[in-house]
Amino acid sequence: MARADLLKRLFEAYQRRDDQAFRLTANELVEDERKKHHAVVANELQRILSNGVRSMEDLRGTKPAFDPVPMDSERRTPLLTVRTPERYFEDLVLAPGVRASLDRVLKEVRGWEILEANALAPTRRLLLCGPSGCGKTASAEALAAELALPLLYVRFDSVVSSLLGETAANLRKVFDYAARGQWVIFFDEFDAIGRSRDDATEHGEIKRVVNSFLQLLDSFNGRSLIIAATNFEQALDPAIWRRFDDVLRLDLPNKEALKALVTKRLRPLRTNTKQVSGLVTKLAGASFADAERVCLDARKACALDGSQTLRSADVEAALERFAYRRTVLKRAAPGEGAPLVDRK
Ligand SMILES: Nc1ncnc2c1ncn2[C@@H]1O[C@H](COP(=O)(O)OP(=O)(O)OP(=O)(O)O)[C@@H](O)[C@H]1O
Ligand SMILES: [Mg+2]
Repeated sequence: MARADLLKRLFEAYQRRDDQAFRLTANELVEDERKKHHAVVANELQRILSNGVRSMEDLRGTKPAFDPVPMDSERRTPLLTVRTPERYFEDLVLAPGVRASLDRVLKEVRGWEILEANALAPTRRLLLCGPSGCGKTASAEALAAELALPLLYVRFDSVVSSLLGETAANLRKVFDYAARGQWVIFFDEFDAIGRSRDDATEHGEIKRVVNSFLQLLDSFNGRSLIIAATNFEQALDPAIWRRFDDVLRLDLPNKEALKALVTKRLRPLRTNTKQVSGLVTKLAGASFADAERVCLDARKACALDGSQTLRSADVEAALERFAYRRTVLKRAAPGEGAPLVDRK
Protein backbone atom coordinates (compact mmCIF):
# COMPACT_ATOMS: atom_id res chain seq x y z
CA MET A 1 0.00 0.00 0.00
CA ALA A 2 1.27 3.45 -0.89
CA ARG A 3 2.40 5.74 1.91
CA ALA A 4 -0.34 7.97 3.28
CA ASP A 5 1.73 11.17 3.02
CA LEU A 6 2.43 10.54 -0.66
CA LEU A 7 -1.21 9.90 -1.38
CA LYS A 8 -2.16 13.06 0.45
CA ARG A 9 0.35 15.11 -1.56
CA LEU A 10 -0.93 13.57 -4.76
CA PHE A 11 -4.51 14.53 -3.99
CA GLU A 12 -3.49 18.03 -2.99
CA ALA A 13 -1.57 18.49 -6.23
CA TYR A 14 -4.62 17.39 -8.15
CA GLN A 15 -6.81 19.77 -6.22
CA ARG A 16 -4.48 22.69 -7.04
CA ARG A 17 -4.27 21.49 -10.67
CA ASP A 18 -0.50 21.59 -10.12
CA ASP A 19 0.68 19.32 -12.90
CA GLN A 20 4.34 19.38 -11.96
CA ALA A 21 3.75 18.52 -8.32
CA PHE A 22 1.30 15.82 -9.36
CA ARG A 23 3.85 14.18 -11.64
CA LEU A 24 6.67 14.43 -9.12
CA THR A 25 4.57 12.83 -6.41
CA ALA A 26 3.21 10.20 -8.77
CA ASN A 27 6.77 9.29 -9.74
CA GLU A 28 7.72 9.05 -6.08
CA LEU A 29 4.79 6.73 -5.59
CA VAL A 30 5.95 4.55 -8.46
CA GLU A 31 9.44 4.38 -6.97
CA ASP A 32 8.00 3.59 -3.57
CA GLU A 33 6.08 0.66 -5.02
CA ARG A 34 9.17 -0.51 -6.85
CA LYS A 35 11.22 -0.45 -3.65
CA LYS A 36 8.62 -2.66 -2.06
CA HIS A 37 9.15 -5.10 -4.96
CA HIS A 38 5.66 -4.42 -6.30
CA ALA A 39 6.98 -4.44 -9.87
CA VAL A 40 3.63 -5.10 -11.53
CA VAL A 41 1.85 -2.20 -9.82
CA ALA A 42 4.86 0.08 -10.37
CA ASN A 43 4.98 -0.67 -14.08
CA GLU A 44 1.27 -0.24 -14.46
CA LEU A 45 1.31 3.14 -12.71
CA GLN A 46 4.29 4.21 -14.79
CA ARG A 47 2.50 3.22 -17.95
CA ILE A 48 -0.65 5.14 -17.05
CA LEU A 49 1.43 8.18 -16.18
CA SER A 50 3.39 8.21 -19.40
CA ASN A 51 0.76 7.03 -21.83
CA GLY A 52 0.09 9.83 -24.23
CA VAL A 53 -1.70 12.26 -21.93
CA ARG A 54 1.12 14.66 -21.25
CA SER A 55 -0.25 16.95 -18.59
CA MET A 56 -3.37 18.17 -16.93
CA GLU A 57 -3.28 21.08 -19.33
CA ASP A 58 -3.94 18.51 -22.04
CA LEU A 59 -6.87 17.15 -20.09
CA ARG A 60 -8.39 20.62 -19.97
CA GLY A 61 -8.48 20.49 -23.73
CA THR A 62 -6.06 23.34 -24.38
CA LYS A 63 -3.61 21.02 -26.14
CA PRO A 64 -4.20 17.77 -27.97
CA ALA A 65 -3.74 14.81 -25.64
CA PHE A 66 -1.78 12.76 -28.16
CA ASP A 67 0.94 13.39 -30.68
CA PRO A 68 -0.38 14.44 -34.09
CA VAL A 69 -1.36 11.35 -36.05
CA PRO A 70 0.61 10.36 -39.17
CA MET A 71 -0.79 11.35 -42.55
CA ASP A 72 -0.82 9.89 -46.03
CA SER A 73 1.62 12.21 -47.78
CA GLU A 74 -0.14 12.02 -51.12
CA ARG A 75 -3.74 12.52 -50.00
CA ARG A 76 -3.04 14.45 -46.79
CA THR A 77 -5.51 12.25 -44.94
CA PRO A 78 -4.96 10.76 -41.47
CA LEU A 79 -3.76 7.16 -41.38
CA LEU A 80 -5.34 6.47 -38.02
CA THR A 81 -7.51 7.93 -35.32
CA VAL A 82 -7.03 7.78 -31.57
CA ARG A 83 -10.25 7.04 -29.74
CA THR A 84 -11.20 6.94 -26.12
CA PRO A 85 -13.29 3.80 -25.93
CA GLU A 86 -16.56 4.05 -24.11
CA ARG A 87 -18.07 0.63 -24.55
CA TYR A 88 -17.42 -2.15 -22.05
CA PHE A 89 -18.08 -5.91 -22.13
CA GLU A 90 -21.17 -5.17 -20.08
CA ASP A 91 -22.66 -3.29 -23.06
CA LEU A 92 -22.24 -6.25 -25.39
CA VAL A 93 -23.81 -9.63 -25.75
CA LEU A 94 -21.05 -12.16 -26.16
CA ALA A 95 -21.30 -15.91 -26.60
CA PRO A 96 -19.91 -17.60 -23.46
CA GLY A 97 -16.92 -19.04 -25.36
CA VAL A 98 -16.07 -15.66 -26.90
CA ARG A 99 -16.41 -13.91 -23.55
CA ALA A 100 -14.14 -16.48 -21.92
CA SER A 101 -11.51 -15.97 -24.63
CA LEU A 102 -11.71 -12.18 -24.32
CA ASP A 103 -11.42 -12.43 -20.54
CA ARG A 104 -8.32 -14.55 -20.96
CA VAL A 105 -6.79 -11.97 -23.30
CA LEU A 106 -7.53 -9.27 -20.71
CA LYS A 107 -5.97 -11.27 -17.95
CA GLU A 108 -2.84 -11.96 -19.97
CA VAL A 109 -2.38 -8.34 -21.05
CA ARG A 110 -2.93 -7.14 -17.49
CA GLY A 111 -0.44 -9.72 -16.28
CA TRP A 112 2.12 -8.89 -18.98
CA GLU A 113 4.94 -8.33 -16.46
CA ILE A 114 4.17 -11.49 -14.53
CA LEU A 115 4.19 -13.56 -17.70
CA GLU A 116 7.41 -11.93 -18.85
CA ALA A 117 9.05 -12.57 -15.51
CA ASN A 118 8.26 -16.23 -16.14
CA ALA A 119 9.70 -16.11 -19.66
CA LEU A 120 6.20 -16.25 -21.16
CA ALA A 121 4.50 -13.93 -23.61
CA PRO A 122 0.91 -12.74 -23.34
CA THR A 123 -1.60 -12.97 -26.17
CA ARG A 124 -0.90 -9.73 -27.97
CA ARG A 125 -2.23 -10.33 -31.47
CA LEU A 126 -5.85 -11.16 -31.84
CA LEU A 127 -7.76 -11.76 -35.06
CA LEU A 128 -11.52 -11.22 -35.02
CA CYS A 129 -13.59 -12.56 -37.86
CA GLY A 130 -17.23 -13.11 -38.68
CA PRO A 131 -20.14 -11.46 -40.45
CA SER A 132 -20.81 -7.76 -40.45
CA GLY A 133 -22.59 -6.25 -37.47
CA CYS A 134 -21.67 -8.96 -34.99
CA GLY A 135 -19.32 -7.05 -32.74
CA LYS A 136 -15.79 -7.10 -34.13
CA THR A 137 -15.27 -3.36 -33.82
CA ALA A 138 -17.36 -3.20 -30.66
CA SER A 139 -15.31 -5.97 -29.01
CA ALA A 140 -12.03 -4.24 -29.88
CA GLU A 141 -13.37 -1.06 -28.31
CA ALA A 142 -14.55 -2.93 -25.25
CA LEU A 143 -11.15 -4.60 -24.82
CA ALA A 144 -9.51 -1.17 -24.93
CA ALA A 145 -12.03 0.20 -22.43
CA GLU A 146 -11.54 -2.73 -20.06
CA LEU A 147 -7.77 -2.27 -20.27
CA ALA A 148 -8.16 1.49 -19.80
CA LEU A 149 -6.10 2.05 -22.94
CA PRO A 150 -6.80 4.36 -25.86
CA LEU A 151 -7.85 2.69 -29.10
CA LEU A 152 -5.63 3.31 -32.08
CA TYR A 153 -8.02 2.78 -34.97
CA VAL A 154 -6.49 2.02 -38.36
CA ARG A 155 -8.72 1.45 -41.37
CA PHE A 156 -6.91 -0.32 -44.10
CA ASP A 157 -8.44 1.68 -46.88
CA SER A 158 -6.89 4.81 -45.39
CA VAL A 159 -3.49 3.15 -45.42
CA VAL A 160 -3.62 1.63 -48.89
CA SER A 161 -2.36 4.25 -51.31
CA SER A 162 -2.59 4.37 -55.05
CA LEU A 163 1.07 5.34 -55.18
CA LEU A 164 3.44 2.46 -55.56
CA GLY A 165 5.48 2.02 -52.43
CA GLU A 166 3.44 4.53 -50.45
CA THR A 167 1.33 1.86 -48.72
CA ALA A 168 4.35 0.23 -47.11
CA ALA A 169 5.57 3.67 -46.03
CA ASN A 170 2.14 4.37 -44.52
CA LEU A 171 2.23 1.12 -42.60
CA ARG A 172 5.64 2.00 -41.24
CA LYS A 173 4.31 5.38 -40.08
CA VAL A 174 1.44 3.63 -38.29
CA PHE A 175 3.76 1.21 -36.49
CA ASP A 176 6.21 3.99 -35.59
CA TYR A 177 3.40 5.97 -34.05
CA ALA A 178 2.09 2.90 -32.22
CA ALA A 179 5.53 2.21 -30.76
CA ARG A 180 5.41 5.54 -28.90
CA GLY A 181 2.64 4.54 -26.49
CA GLN A 182 0.55 1.75 -25.13
CA TRP A 183 -2.72 1.14 -26.87
CA VAL A 184 -5.10 -1.34 -28.27
CA ILE A 185 -4.21 -1.09 -31.95
CA PHE A 186 -7.14 -2.03 -34.13
CA PHE A 187 -6.66 -2.80 -37.82
CA ASP A 188 -10.13 -2.72 -39.32
CA GLU A 189 -11.13 -4.02 -42.77
CA PHE A 190 -8.02 -6.13 -42.52
CA ASP A 191 -8.88 -8.22 -45.59
CA ALA A 192 -8.06 -5.18 -47.71
CA ILE A 193 -4.42 -5.94 -47.13
CA GLY A 194 -4.47 -9.57 -46.24
CA ARG A 195 -5.57 -10.97 -49.58
CA SER A 196 -3.76 -14.15 -50.34
CA ARG A 197 -0.31 -13.70 -51.78
CA ASP A 198 -1.02 -16.74 -53.96
CA ASP A 199 -3.88 -14.97 -55.70
CA ALA A 200 -2.68 -14.64 -59.27
CA THR A 201 -5.04 -11.77 -60.00
CA GLU A 202 -3.50 -9.59 -57.35
CA HIS A 203 -0.99 -7.01 -58.26
CA GLY A 204 2.60 -7.54 -57.11
CA GLU A 205 2.28 -4.42 -54.98
CA ILE A 206 -0.17 -6.03 -52.56
CA LYS A 207 2.26 -8.91 -52.06
CA ARG A 208 4.97 -6.49 -51.10
CA VAL A 209 2.56 -4.73 -48.78
CA VAL A 210 1.62 -7.98 -47.05
CA ASN A 211 5.30 -8.80 -46.64
CA SER A 212 6.12 -5.46 -45.13
CA PHE A 213 3.10 -5.68 -42.85
CA LEU A 214 4.28 -9.07 -41.62
CA GLN A 215 7.79 -7.74 -41.04
CA LEU A 216 6.47 -4.75 -39.12
CA LEU A 217 4.21 -7.01 -37.07
CA ASP A 218 7.11 -9.34 -36.27
CA SER A 219 9.45 -6.58 -35.23
CA PHE A 220 6.88 -4.63 -33.21
CA ASN A 221 7.61 -5.08 -29.54
CA GLY A 222 5.52 -2.32 -28.00
CA ARG A 223 3.38 -3.27 -25.02
CA SER A 224 0.17 -2.99 -26.97
CA LEU A 225 -2.55 -5.41 -27.90
CA ILE A 226 -2.93 -5.66 -31.66
CA ILE A 227 -6.36 -6.63 -33.00
CA ALA A 228 -7.29 -7.13 -36.63
CA ALA A 229 -10.81 -7.64 -37.96
CA THR A 230 -12.07 -9.13 -41.17
CA ASN A 231 -15.37 -10.22 -42.70
CA PHE A 232 -13.56 -12.32 -45.25
CA GLU A 233 -11.24 -14.56 -43.37
CA GLN A 234 -10.91 -16.83 -46.39
CA ALA A 235 -9.16 -13.97 -48.19
CA LEU A 236 -6.38 -13.96 -45.64
CA ASP A 237 -2.97 -15.28 -46.36
CA PRO A 238 -1.95 -18.33 -44.26
CA ALA A 239 1.22 -16.45 -43.30
CA ILE A 240 -1.00 -13.82 -41.71
CA TRP A 241 -3.08 -16.35 -39.77
CA ARG A 242 0.08 -17.73 -38.23
CA ARG A 243 1.02 -14.32 -36.81
CA PHE A 244 -2.02 -14.19 -34.53
CA ASP A 245 -1.91 -15.75 -31.07
CA ASP A 246 -5.66 -16.08 -30.98
CA VAL A 247 -8.43 -16.13 -33.58
CA LEU A 248 -12.01 -15.49 -32.54
CA ARG A 249 -15.15 -15.81 -34.59
CA LEU A 250 -18.07 -13.57 -33.74
CA ASP A 251 -21.15 -15.13 -35.25
CA LEU A 252 -24.72 -14.09 -35.90
CA PRO A 253 -26.72 -14.20 -32.69
CA ASN A 254 -28.84 -17.20 -31.76
CA LYS A 255 -32.23 -16.79 -30.09
CA GLU A 256 -30.78 -16.47 -26.64
CA ALA A 257 -28.29 -13.80 -27.69
CA LEU A 258 -31.01 -11.88 -29.55
CA LYS A 259 -33.16 -11.94 -26.45
CA ALA A 260 -30.28 -10.62 -24.36
CA LEU A 261 -29.60 -7.85 -26.87
CA VAL A 262 -33.24 -6.83 -27.23
CA THR A 263 -33.62 -6.76 -23.45
CA LYS A 264 -30.49 -4.61 -23.08
CA ARG A 265 -31.39 -2.16 -25.79
CA LEU A 266 -35.00 -1.73 -24.73
CA ARG A 267 -34.07 -1.36 -21.08
CA PRO A 268 -35.19 2.25 -20.62
CA LEU A 269 -38.73 1.28 -21.61
CA ARG A 270 -41.37 -0.82 -19.93
CA THR A 271 -41.83 -3.93 -22.02
CA ASN A 272 -43.69 -7.20 -21.67
CA THR A 273 -42.30 -10.66 -22.29
CA LYS A 274 -44.60 -11.19 -25.26
CA GLN A 275 -43.19 -8.15 -27.04
CA VAL A 276 -39.64 -9.31 -26.43
CA SER A 277 -40.24 -12.87 -27.57
CA GLY A 278 -42.18 -11.62 -30.62
CA LEU A 279 -39.25 -9.41 -31.58
CA VAL A 280 -36.75 -12.22 -31.10
CA THR A 281 -38.76 -14.49 -33.40
CA LYS A 282 -39.06 -11.84 -36.09
CA LEU A 283 -35.38 -10.97 -35.89
CA ALA A 284 -34.19 -14.54 -36.51
CA GLY A 285 -31.16 -14.46 -38.80
CA ALA A 286 -30.47 -10.78 -38.18
CA SER A 287 -27.14 -9.49 -36.96
CA PHE A 288 -26.70 -7.73 -33.63
CA ALA A 289 -26.45 -4.44 -35.47
CA ASP A 290 -29.80 -5.09 -37.22
CA ALA A 291 -31.51 -6.10 -34.04
CA GLU A 292 -30.14 -3.06 -32.29
CA ARG A 293 -31.40 -0.80 -35.06
CA VAL A 294 -34.93 -2.16 -34.74
CA CYS A 295 -34.92 -1.66 -30.97
CA LEU A 296 -33.54 1.87 -31.21
CA ASP A 297 -36.02 2.70 -33.97
CA ALA A 298 -38.91 1.70 -31.73
CA ARG A 299 -37.39 3.56 -28.81
CA LYS A 300 -37.05 6.74 -30.85
CA ALA A 301 -40.72 6.67 -31.74
CA CYS A 302 -41.61 6.25 -28.05
CA ALA A 303 -39.23 9.00 -26.97
CA LEU A 304 -40.62 11.47 -29.49
CA ASP A 305 -44.14 10.86 -28.19
CA GLY A 306 -43.03 10.87 -24.56
CA SER A 307 -44.03 7.26 -24.00
CA GLN A 308 -42.14 5.25 -21.41
CA THR A 309 -43.82 2.03 -22.39
CA LEU A 310 -42.92 0.16 -25.54
CA ARG A 311 -45.87 0.41 -27.92
CA SER A 312 -46.56 -2.56 -30.14
CA ALA A 313 -47.34 -0.30 -33.11
CA ASP A 314 -43.83 1.16 -32.92
CA VAL A 315 -42.32 -2.31 -32.81
CA GLU A 316 -44.33 -3.31 -35.88
CA ALA A 317 -43.29 -0.17 -37.75
CA ALA A 318 -39.61 -0.73 -36.86
CA LEU A 319 -39.80 -4.33 -38.02
CA GLU A 320 -41.42 -3.27 -41.26
CA ARG A 321 -38.65 -0.77 -41.94
CA PHE A 322 -36.13 -3.47 -41.17
CA ALA A 323 -37.80 -5.95 -43.57
CA TYR A 324 -37.88 -3.31 -46.30
CA ARG A 325 -34.25 -2.44 -45.76
CA ARG A 326 -33.32 -6.11 -45.89
CA THR A 327 -35.07 -6.50 -49.25
CA VAL A 328 -33.34 -3.46 -50.69
CA LEU A 329 -29.93 -4.65 -49.53
CA LYS A 330 -30.54 -8.15 -50.85
CA ARG A 331 -31.44 -6.73 -54.21
CA ALA A 332 -28.35 -4.57 -54.18
CA ALA A 333 -26.14 -7.61 -53.48
CA PRO A 334 -27.97 -10.62 -54.90
CA GLY A 335 -26.93 -14.20 -54.41
CA GLU A 336 -25.35 -16.01 -51.54
CA GLY A 337 -23.87 -13.95 -48.79
CA ALA A 338 -26.06 -10.92 -49.47
CA PRO A 339 -25.57 -8.80 -46.39
CA LEU A 340 -28.38 -8.56 -43.89
CA VAL A 341 -26.98 -5.39 -42.50
CA ASP A 342 -25.59 -2.13 -43.56
CA ARG A 343 -22.17 -0.85 -42.67
CA LYS A 344 -21.86 1.84 -40.07
N1 LIG B 1 -22.30 -8.72 -29.74
C1 LIG B 1 -22.90 -7.55 -29.68
N2 LIG B 1 -23.54 -7.16 -28.56
C2 LIG B 1 -24.16 -5.96 -28.52
N3 LIG B 1 -24.20 -5.08 -29.53
C3 LIG B 1 -23.58 -5.43 -30.66
C4 LIG B 1 -22.89 -6.67 -30.79
N4 LIG B 1 -22.37 -6.72 -32.02
C5 LIG B 1 -22.70 -5.59 -32.63
N5 LIG B 1 -23.44 -4.80 -31.82
C6 LIG B 1 -23.96 -3.48 -32.14
O1 LIG B 1 -23.94 -3.30 -33.54
C7 LIG B 1 -23.09 -2.22 -33.91
C8 LIG B 1 -22.20 -2.63 -35.06
O2 LIG B 1 -21.32 -3.65 -34.61
P1 LIG B 1 -19.78 -3.68 -34.97
O3 LIG B 1 -19.40 -2.39 -35.59
O4 LIG B 1 -19.01 -4.12 -33.80
O5 LIG B 1 -19.82 -4.82 -36.06
P2 LIG B 1 -18.63 -5.42 -36.92
O6 LIG B 1 -18.60 -6.88 -36.64
O7 LIG B 1 -17.40 -4.64 -36.64
O8 LIG B 1 -19.17 -5.18 -38.39
P3 LIG B 1 -18.39 -4.81 -39.75
O9 LIG B 1 -17.81 -6.10 -40.23
O10 LIG B 1 -19.46 -4.29 -40.64
O11 LIG B 1 -17.34 -3.80 -39.41
C9 LIG B 1 -22.25 -1.91 -32.66
O12 LIG B 1 -21.98 -0.55 -32.58
C10 LIG B 1 -23.08 -2.40 -31.53
O13 LIG B 1 -23.84 -1.36 -31.01
MG1 LIG C 1 -16.31 -3.27 -37.80
